[in-house]
Amino acid sequence: MMIKPIAGKTVLEVTGLDLDKPLDAGTRKALQDAFIQAGILVFPRATGGPEAQLALSRCFGELLQHPVKEAWAEGYPELVDVSYRPGRPGESTVALYEVDGTCRGGWLPWHSDLRYMHRINRGGILRAVELPREGGRTGFIDQIAAYATLPEALRQRIDGLHVVYQVRPDFTQEKFGKPEGLKLVQNTAVLESMAERIDRDFPAVVHPMVYAQAETGRKVLNVVPTSARRIHEMPNAEGDALLEEVLSYAVNPALAYWHDWRENDLVLWDNWRTVHCAEGVPPDCVRVMQRTTIAGDYALGRKLSELAA
Ligand SMILES: [Fe+2]
Repeated sequence: MMIKPIAGKTVLEVTGLDLDKPLDAGTRKALQDAFIQAGILVFPRATGGPEAQLALSRCFGELLQHPVKEAWAEGYPELVDVSYRPGRPGESTVALYEVDGTCRGGWLPWHSDLRYMHRINRGGILRAVELPREGGRTGFIDQIAAYATLPEALRQRIDGLHVVYQVRPDFTQEKFGKPEGLKLVQNTAVLESMAERIDRDFPAVVHPMVYAQAETGRKVLNVVPTSARRIHEMPNAEGDALLEEVLSYAVNPALAYWHDWRENDLVLWDNWRTVHCAEGVPPDCVRVMQRTTIAGDYALGRKLSELAA
């Protein structure tokens, strides 16, 4: 097995690993260490299909089953289908947006998974199954690297502060990190039905703006634009301006790694210290991707109602 940095960023590429065979203890330890060091691991053109993806994911923690059976890929409860397929309104499970004047299926702004919950899962591994003729890249930004670029004065201003998050029914209703001129072309039935029950099912949560990685003590910039509503301690224009400024460091394009997928590529990301986004595909394309969900909780998130009480 070879592990080397790629793209000059904090991303490690793992090659020479035979995923058709069980992973021995030494290999597992080396992979776990690399995961803590870099946060993003790329396994180009991995063999072994979904079984190998599941086995590799289990090196980094227990796997979560998706609660909705319809979301299971190939009948595996621990493998979620995150594909884009063209469909008529009400049929498609993925919304269409106009971004920078282009209509895109499966576009997602910079986010981390389940940020709108008080417990945030450890990470996941994505596998490319069927690729579109163009587009479909996934962007990743490491937030230990992002914290390192923060000016000292800004570090001091956000020390001890928290951000309130609550999910929105679609990305045009986001307050932060929304591309100019973003339009919702076609929503999905699931997201539309969610709008009425957000306050009941997804109450606001709070996460610290900075925390230290448990294994190394390195500071993580723990701020994502999607679902962010305000700084908890500064619910005013000054707080919004501060959050806007900090977010520009979190999603700085100069720090982004864009994964240009090939079939059977696997990408593992640490959901506690990276943000990611999907550039989307032309609306007539099919893009089939499957994802595992690695369980865990960094235990620093709270429900806003618990803080207030
Ligand atoms: Fe995601």
